[in-house]
Amino acid sequence: QHTSVGIIGGGPAGLLLARLLHRSGIDCVVLETRDRAYVEHRQRAGILEQGTVDVLRACGAGERMDREGLVHDGIELRYDRRAHRLDFPALTGGRRVMVYAQTELVKDLIELQLGSGAPLLFEAQAVAVEGADTDRPLVRYTHQGREHTLTCEYVVGCDGFHGVTRDAIPDRARRTYERDYPYSWLGVLADVPPSCDELIYAHSDRGFALFSMRTPTVSRLYLQVPNGTDPADWPDDRIWDELAARSAIDAPWKLERGPLTAKSVLPMRSCVVEPMRYGRVLLAGDAAHIVPPTGAKGLNLAVADVTVLARALAQRYETGATELLDTYSDTCLRRVWRAEHFSYFMTTTLHTEQDQSPFETRLQLAQLDRLAASRHASAELAENYTGLPLE
Ligand code: FAD
Ligand code: DHB
Repeated sequence: QHTSVGIIGGGPAGLLLARLLHRSGIDCVVLETRDRAYVEHRQRAGILEQGTVDVLRACGAGERMDREGLVHDGIELRYDRRAHRLDFPALTGGRRVMVYAQTELVKDLIELQLGSGAPLLFEAQAVAVEGADTDRPLVRYTHQGREHTLTCEYVVGCDGFHGVTRDAIPDRARRTYERDYPYSWLGVLADVPPSCDELIYAHSDRGFALFSMRTPTVSRLYLQVPNGTDPADWPDDRIWDELAARSAIDAPWKLERGPLTAKSVLPMRSCVVEPMRYGRVLLAGDAAHIVPPTGAKGLNLAVADVTVLARALAQRYETGATELLDTYSDTCLRRVWRAEHFSYFMTTTLHTEQDQSPFETRLQLAQLDRLAASRHASAELAENYTGLPLE
C-alpha cells in the first residue's frame, strides 16, 4: 500500500490536513486508532479563533459551523467580586471568536473526508514510523487484527500527545521543553442554557472557574481542582455550589443549574517538541506541542500547523520546491511559543496555587486590574485570544 502523504491520527489536525490536501489534489491516507463514534464524541475544545474559522470556511468545512456556531465578541473576567468585559472587535480591529465544539468540527471533517472517497481508516493503529531520513518513509500499523505497511513520500504525525510519530525523530535530534502545573480542571457538561451570553473567566481565592457553552441550551463548565482529583468526590450539588461561589460578584447575577451529563478531570501541561520536522517526517498539533487549556489555544494551534503544512506540501507537489517544507518547523514554532506564553500567562494569572502567598495573590489581582484599566493590556489579551494572523 502506497500514498503520497501518510497521516497518522484522525483528530482535528489529521482530518483538516487531509481536507486541505484533497483540495490541492494530493493523495493521502488517514490512520486513526479509535473508532468513529469515539472520535466524534470525545469532549474537548470549544473556541475557534477568527483565523481558524476563516480556514474552515475556505476549504468548504464551514457550512454547519456558520449555521450552528455562536459568534462571540468578547469575554468577561471576574476577580475580587467584580466583572470586567473585554470587547474583542473594538480591541483588535474587528476580530471575534466562534463557539463550535471540537466534536462537531470533527464530525463535519469526517463526513467530508468519507464523502470525497479519500481513505480514512478507523481502528487502524500506527505502531511505528520508519525511514524518516530516506525518500520512502513508512508506517507500520495494525487494522482488523492484521499488520500492514503504508509506504509514503511524507509521513505526518497528527497523533496527539501520546502518539508514536515523535519517536521517529532520533533522540539526538529532538529537544523537549515541558512544564507541569499543580492543578487540573474538573470539566462538566450541563443541560441548561448558559447563564450569560459570553464566556466568564473567574479568578477567586477558592480557585479558578470557567463558564463556557456548547449550544444555546448546553453549558460547559470548568473548576480548578487539585491534581489527582476523583470526579466521584464531586456530586452535582457540590459542583454547582462551587461554581456559584467562585463567580460571585457584588452585582446581580444568578447561575442557573441543570442536570450534569458528563464529568471528567483534565491534567494540565505545557510541552513543546523541537524540531517539528525531521527528514520526511513532520509533526502537527498536539503531537508536537500542548498547552494548558486556559487560553483556548490547543485546537487552534493544530489548525494553524496543518494550514502551514498544507501550503508547503502544495508547493512541493506543484513545483518540486521544498522551501516551505524546509521552513515549516521554524514558521510553526514562532506561533507555538507565542501561544505557549499566552496559555501560561492566562493559566498562572487566573489559577491560585494551594500554598500561594498573599503576595502572589496581590500580584494576580494587580495584573487583572491592569487588564481592566488599560486598553494596551486588554488589547494584548484580545489579540492573542482571537488569534494572531497566520504568517
Ligand atoms: P488529537 O485531537 O489528540 O488527535 C490525535 C488523534 O490521533 C486521536 O484521534 C488519536 O486517537 C489518534 N492517535 C493517537 N495515536 C495513534 C496511533 N498510534 N495510530 C493512529 N492514530 C493515533 N483545547 C482547548 O482549546 N480547550 C479545551 O477545553 C480543551 N480540552 C481538552 C481536553 C482534553 C482531555 C484534551 C486531551 C485536550 C483538550 N484540549 C482543549 C486541546 C485540544 O483538544 C487539542 O489541542 C486538539 O484536539 C489537538 O488536535 P490534534 O488533532 O492535534 O490531536
Ligand atoms: C473552553 C475551553 C477552554 O479552555 C477555554 O479557554 C474556553 C472554552 C470550552 O471547552 O468551551
